[in-house]
Amino acid sequence: MSRLRLGVNIDHVATIRNARGGAHPDPARAAELAIEAGADGITAHLREDRRHISDADIDRIAALCRKVSRPLNFEMAVTDEMLAIALDHRPHAACLVPERREERTTEGGLDVARGHNAVAPVVRRLREAGVRVSLFIEPSTVQVAVAEAIGAQVVELHTGAYCEAVQHGRVDEAAALLARLTSAAEEAARRGLEVHAGHGLDFHSVKPVAAISQVVELNIGHFLIGEAIFTGLSAAIHRMRALMDEARAEVAA
Ligand code: PXP
Repeated sequence: MSRLRLGVNIDHVATIRNARGGAHPDPARAAELAIEAGADGITAHLREDRRHISDADIDRIAALCRKVSRPLNFEMAVTDEMLAIALDHRPHAACLVPERREERTTEGGLDVARGHNAVAPVVRRLREAGVRVSLFIEPSTVQVAVAEAIGAQVVELHTGAYCEAVQHGRVDEAAALLARLTSAAEEAARRGLEVHAGHGLDFHSVKPVAAISQVVELNIGHFLIGEAIFTGLSAAIHRMRALMDEARAEVAA
């Protein structure tokens, strides 16, 4: 089984910075620390409303990732503006996500089954520029099939509903949602897609997702940045990494 990669999403360092409008805390410094602590890559979402990460942050984080040879996973909405920025930066990967201004976070996956006419050309343009394209989708075999059909190389399965069920102790629902994640991961791998997962993962929910053998990367942000308040970012990342490795070792045993 392949080693599970950890992408650390540093968006919410910028959320805290922006609460005061100054320069501290700096998401690029957090990205550097995350890499030192063992992050395999950095994920950042440049939202249309720039509520956390700014254009200047992306410039600096992209430069850092190039300098230390770590992949930048650029999360973006399917818009002309974001496509132009992605084509300008040519990050290692772009993850296409749905975006609504009124939402607090990325609330659901990209509905590629309904929106394929809009998504397909963006996938093509990014791929032509040498950017690896990931689609953030609900764990559904239909969404997986369309993702493959429109040329994505990667799917990132939305773990939000599963994590919420775990958090609220809804055991049966969590088991059913985990089974859904597992079948979507199996279907994606069968179709030759690389499988990532993320959203809402914390120390309690991470191991069952990490144990899905087809998943090769987890992208985790909000919980790690929140936990960093109590233990520091390095310690939070080390603990997450250890739980991911434990889950993989238990499956292999
Ligand atoms: N993956 C994607 C595609 C996301 O949009 C997000 C949230 O920005 C994450 C992973 C990370 O989610 P969280 O911050 O809840 O860990």
